Formats: sequence, structure tokens, C-alpha cells
Amino acid sequence: MQTQHEIILGNSQRMPEIENGSVELMVTSPPYPMIAMWDELFANVDPHVAELFKKLDEDANKETVRQIYDAMHDNLAKVWAETYRVLVDGGIACINIGDATRSLNGKFQLYPNHSRITEVCEKIGFNTLPYILWKKPTNKPMYKGKGAFLGSGFLPPNAYVTVDCEFILLFRKGKLRKFQPKDALRYESAFTKKERDEWFSQIWTVKGSRQKEPQLERRTAAYPEEIANRLIRMFSVKGETVLDPFLGSGTTTKIAMQNERNSIGYEVDENLFFVITKRTAICKSKEALVEIFRR
Ligand SMILES: C[S@@+](CC[C@H](N)C(=O)[O-])C[C@H]1O[C@@H](n2cnc3c(N)ncnc32)[C@H](O)[C@@H]1O
Repeated sequence: MQTQHEIILGNSQRMPEIENGSVELMVTSPPYPMIAMWDELFANVDPHVAELFKKLDEDANKETVRQIYDAMHDNLAKVWAETYRVLVDGGIACINIGDATRSLNGKFQLYPNHSRITEVCEKIGFNTLPYILWKKPTNKPMYKGKGAFLGSGFLPPNAYVTVDCEFILLFRKGKLRKFQPKDALRYESAFTKKERDEWFSQIWTVKGSRQKEPQLERRTAAYPEEIANRLIRMFSVKGETVLDPFLGSGTTTKIAMQNERNSIGYEVDENLFFVITKRTAICKSKEALVEIFRR
């Protein structure tokens, strides 16, 4: 089946290229608020975040930390609202997000990104569905926020629980989707019993990303292809369209191609252009038409 793949180098807080109600599935992993590696990106996309970080340097105030957290989520919220607009009735949104732990102004605390996004998406109008916990085997235990027990790991009470799970939040727009009886492409898209039993259970123990370029993987915080593969096959039918508004290295596009879905991806960091081109070219064939353009 011939499929079409659009990659737009631009900010997904506005997606004028996509018509209302024209996308069946969104699969994405945004930059995680309050994880230090994404501070600069948030500040580049939104001057208000940059100003708040400057203010924090000057006033070291906990209220300023709260304002930074709120402002980062306000930025993501615009993308969730645009996603709601472009999804078809019954379309699904899958958001891979991790909570953040961080010491700012000498205070260590958890920033529960998953609960903030759930509340925001409910306000937008999404129905919240049961989520998936992605258990990652990689993180070390945490002591005083320093990522290790530092020799006091057996003494109560100051060690923290290790954050070794991420969330895959699932939302639906409106009611269940309807299909004609015996819809051929839907039947062709069926998963096996083994896949169903594993994929529809709540804890996934998929190993971290196994891409061939570890440096790139760190820079884009790419998710494993297996995560994208499961979500695309669980929640869309061959020939439908998958959106990723935070495309990074292009994992979602690549896996959409492999599964005979169309795709649209947005990426604001132009430096990722060559990475995306390279990764999507791996599977590019006569069957997959790729168009990449800048806003
Ligand atoms: C966590 S990474 C996504 C990784 C991706 N799932 C992969 O496998 O490579 C988030 C990406 O979103 C991009 N981004 C952040 N804000 C954006 C925005 N407003 N519009 C488009 N892209 C954005 C960042 O540049 C980054 O590449």
C-alpha cells in the first residue's frame, strides 16, 4: 500500500497544515518539563520561560520555580489542544511522559508531569483512558536527589524511591470509532493473541532505545521503536494517519512507514533535519512518499 509522510520543520503549537478531524492517532513524547536537558529548548520556544529562568537566577524564589513549571506546561498544552482539533471523532492520543525530580534552590522535589498533562487534556475535552507504565531497567537508586545512595543506602529515612517508570498516557476524543462490518483493512491490521495479551497489560518492560546512534539517542531522548510500533498497531488501522507533534529523530515516522500508516511529524529543531532524513530514508521505498518542508 502506498503511504504518505509529511515532516514539517516548525513549531507544533500551531498546525495549520492539518485540517480539523483528519488524523486518527497521535503518538508522541514531548520534552519533559523540569528535566534540565530540555530547559534551553523551552526557553528558545517561549521567551517567557527564558525570562523566568533569568528571574530565578536573581531571586532564587520557589514561586519562580513554580512559574517555570506552569509555563512549560502551558507550552505543551497548546499542542494538546491542536491535537484535539485535528483528531477524528474517536481518535486516540498517546503521550509518553516521565515525571521529573530536581533540586532547585537547594530543595529536592518531584514534578508530576503525568498528572498535570492528564488534567490539562481533560480540560481540553479528552476522555482519559487507563495508562501504561513503561518500566525502564536503567536508572540507579536515588539518595538526596543525587542519583545514588552514596554509601547510606541502608539507613532510613532519607533515601528516595527511584524514578524508573515513565507513563504512556492514553486519551480518546469523543466516542468509540465506528467501522463497517468486516472492514478489510481493519481485519488486516489485527494483532495476535500473544501481542494483545502483552500490549494491553498495564506494565511494559521494554528496554531503552536501541538505536544505532547512542549520541543522537541521548540528544533527542528517542523512545524505543518497539513503543511506537505497539501504539501504532494498537490504536490505528492500515492506511490511517499518525501524527507526532514532537518528532525528534523521526522514530514515529519510520515505524508508521513500516506499518503501512501515513504520518505527519513536526520538529522545531532544524538541526535534526539530517537525522530525520537519514532515519526515514532507511525504509523509504516507492511505497512511502516522504515530503519534508520548512515553515
Ligand atoms: C523527547 S524528544 C522526541 C523524541 C522522539 N520520540 C524520538 O524517538 O526521536 C522531543 C522533541 O520535540 C521537539 N520539540 C519541542 N518543542 C517543540 C514544538 N513546540 N514543536 C515541534 N517540536 C518541538 C524537540 O526539539 C525534541 O526533538
